[in-house]
Amino acid sequence: MFAEKIKAARKEVDAKGFLDIELDPTLDLFAAIEKLKKEKNAVLLAHYYQEPDIQDVADYIGDSLGLAQQAEKTKADMIVFAGVHFMAETAKILNPTKKVVIPDLKAGCSLSDSCPPPLFKKFKEQHPDHVVVSYINCSAGIKALSDVIVTSSNAKIIVESFPKDQKIIFAPDKNLGAYINKVTGRNMVLWNGACMVHEIFSLEKITKLKVRHPDAKLIAHPECEEPILRIADYIGSTTGLLKYTQTDSAQEYIVATETGILHQMMKANPHKTFIPAPPNNSCACNDCPHMKRNTLEKIYLCMEYETPEINMEEELRLAALKPIKRMLDISGKAGM
Ligand code: 13P
Ligand code: SF4
Repeated sequence: MFAEKIKAARKEVDAKGFLDIELDPTLDLFAAIEKLKKEKNAVLLAHYYQEPDIQDVADYIGDSLGLAQQAEKTKADMIVFAGVHFMAETAKILNPTKKVVIPDLKAGCSLSDSCPPPLFKKFKEQHPDHVVVSYINCSAGIKALSDVIVTSSNAKIIVESFPKDQKIIFAPDKNLGAYINKVTGRNMVLWNGACMVHEIFSLEKITKLKVRHPDAKLIAHPECEEPILRIADYIGSTTGLLKYTQTDSAQEYIVATETGILHQMMKANPHKTFIPAPPNNSCACNDCPHMKRNTLEKIYLCMEYETPEINMEEELRLAALKPIKRMLDISGKAGM
């Protein structure tokens, strides 16, 4: 009976990327998700860019590195990944015996999409004496073509683990790559990719905001463009930014990253003020449209029906695992 239910659900997912099943509006989704977690021995991992309700029901909230570490070590039978596709894919690569489900298969990433494996393979062939360092925001296909993976929190130490004269290709984020070039004095060849959310901040509007809030500190994710990073008081991964607001003495911050992180910042610092950095137009473009495809309803449904599920060819998984493992080993030794 359950197998039939799942079969029918999978057909629906093939068409839409998620289960579009109407739920009883009186259903207490928080309680229902908690119940499913126990029944199915499931763990709910959420990125900081998820909407506040999802963060509040998650078992672990973190940045890309923290989420990968949790996915690798979990003893749960099912990993429910409230994030985007490359994150859930990384969880499956690291822990293949677990069932990994994602609320919406179409929760992609503009940065990952900017680097298709066949094009990147040609690019790599044009730089034969280079090692490939790839940001975790890429597909399993790109990971399989890489020597080591990095996240925004460990990119500097991992790049520095190579000899100074080692030629390096950095993909796919040109902004993070340029920032790492600057702080390490390297000259990595950069793939021309970028994140649609972090490219949208307006230098002019942030400058005006700083004039109106002279004591506010600008904190920025390294996926932002160089002119924003140049005027930032602190640059770091989402975890780095959150920790900074907890240890720093300022009372006001302009936050140049996706708005989801503000929920944890406000929870951790109820007396401080957090202002989302303004985008260069009037839409809410610093909300990641991919991350925000996930909802509590979709989380409940993907747990109940155990679909959409992440699966991949074993050959690809093993090739992608090697550079991720290398990243986790270096990070572990560095105490991260
Ligand atoms: P971190 O969570 O590693 O800071 O990365 C942010 C991001 O863009 C995830 O897609
Ligand atoms: Fe990708 Fe940018 Fe969204 Fe992160 S915020 S998932 S890098 S599009």
